[in-house]
Amino acid sequence: MSVTVIGIDGGPLPEGSAEALASARLVVGARRHLDAHAPEHARRLELGPFQPALNALAALSGDEHAVVFASGDPGFFGVVRTLREHGVRCGVLPGASSVQQLMARAGRSWDDVAVISPQGGDIGAALNVCRARPAVVVLSARGAGPAQLGSGLEGWRRTLIVGEDLGGPNEAVTTVDPAEAARRTWREPNVVLCLAEPDAVPRRSWFAGGEPLPPESGWALHEDEFSHRDGMLTSSEVRAVALAKLAPRPGTLVWDVGAGSGSVAVECARLGAASIAVESDEAQVVRLITNAAGHGVDVRVAEGAAPQALRELPRPDSIFVGGGGADVVTACAHAGATRVVVALAALDRVGTTRDALRNAGYEVSGVQLSASRLVELEDGAASLKPTDPVVLISGHRKGEHE
Ligand SMILES: C[S@@+](CC[C@H](N)C(=O)[O-])C[C@H]1O[C@@H](n2cnc3c(N)ncnc32)[C@H](O)[C@@H]1O
Repeated sequence: MSVTVIGIDGGPLPEGSAEALASARLVVGARRHLDAHAPEHARRLELGPFQPALNALAALSGDEHAVVFASGDPGFFGVVRTLREHGVRCGVLPGASSVQQLMARAGRSWDDVAVISPQGGDIGAALNVCRARPAVVVLSARGAGPAQLGSGLEGWRRTLIVGEDLGGPNEAVTTVDPAEAARRTWREPNVVLCLAEPDAVPRRSWFAGGEPLPPESGWALHEDEFSHRDGMLTSSEVRAVALAKLAPRPGTLVWDVGAGSGSVAVECARLGAASIAVESDEAQVVRLITNAAGHGVDVRVAEGAAPQALRELPRPDSIFVGGGGADVVTACAHAGATRVVVALAALDRVGTTRDALRNAGYEVSGVQLSASRLVELEDGAASLKPTDPVVLISGHRKGEHE
């Protein structure tokens, strides 16, 4: 048995398709593709679930030929991977991918664009990538279309460009803000381009999908890398341990509660997570906005006092509590995160913090960190200068994806 996969993009079929179809005994594809392109002489099998197609392919004899229709480039989030996974080798005649088509309609280069295919309709990770990165295409799926993306992106400054039925008779390309995307009904199939700055020209890069992580200058940055008030920020050493416990990464959302100058929120964003900084002091809010801009990352600011300010925020994967009382820790322990890290200067709060996390179902660990930094005395001799000791209490419980 031999198999040719033909990609359909609304234009003429790719070169070589006529020959492949003329010799096909079996043709597999979506109803609309079969109606438009399947030859009379071949047996048709409509998709649906893929297993019947695999069975029908396996039943063909050695010299029989089959064609599988798929959308766009079947090698990109498509059927080629599924066939190979089941041991079926195939030739591929690709069409233009829906991502290529949308980017062409938008008249924008796309080497910097991250492409997300939500797994099992789970929109959470896709939303967090759109919240964190400046340019993302989402291959929409059931429960993860333009309306759901729009509703999850309210509160972030984003523009959505929706491509419906690209290359087809009902093609439409529409630019909307998240609120408008959430209100509308959208025709399928569609793909969504999500941009932070619709008119920005991306920097020339060497790596498709956006800069790789972690950033060139590393992480757990020195305090001098942030604007701060009188040294009131998490030290680099404590931040290093806190970041390791928070595990920020693309697809996750981190809250930095009592964010101060926002060093933790900024570092999480630099490591690819979506970040929300919760802060009540106006001057600190200005500082943290400056720090996010200085590091070229998007940090959403929720200005106000926790726990009230936490109420309307989307569910986080990780929470760093750098400020606030026992009521803030309790609220964070019940916010649905997989990881919670609380930094404490006051020892009398260690027990209550541990208990609040434990009572909410977390496995709790704690460490006191007191680093002494190497400094040089006036005569050039090496000496050590202690930083303020901090206790980190960390709670971890199994998340959806672990
Ligand atoms: C499983 S992925 C396959 C992607 C495909 N291999 C490609 O290169 O475009 C299916 C995604 O493509 C989108 N899609 C397929 N055909 C489309 C079209 N004509 N217009 C807009 N989106 C399309 C679907 O909505 C979905 O988000």
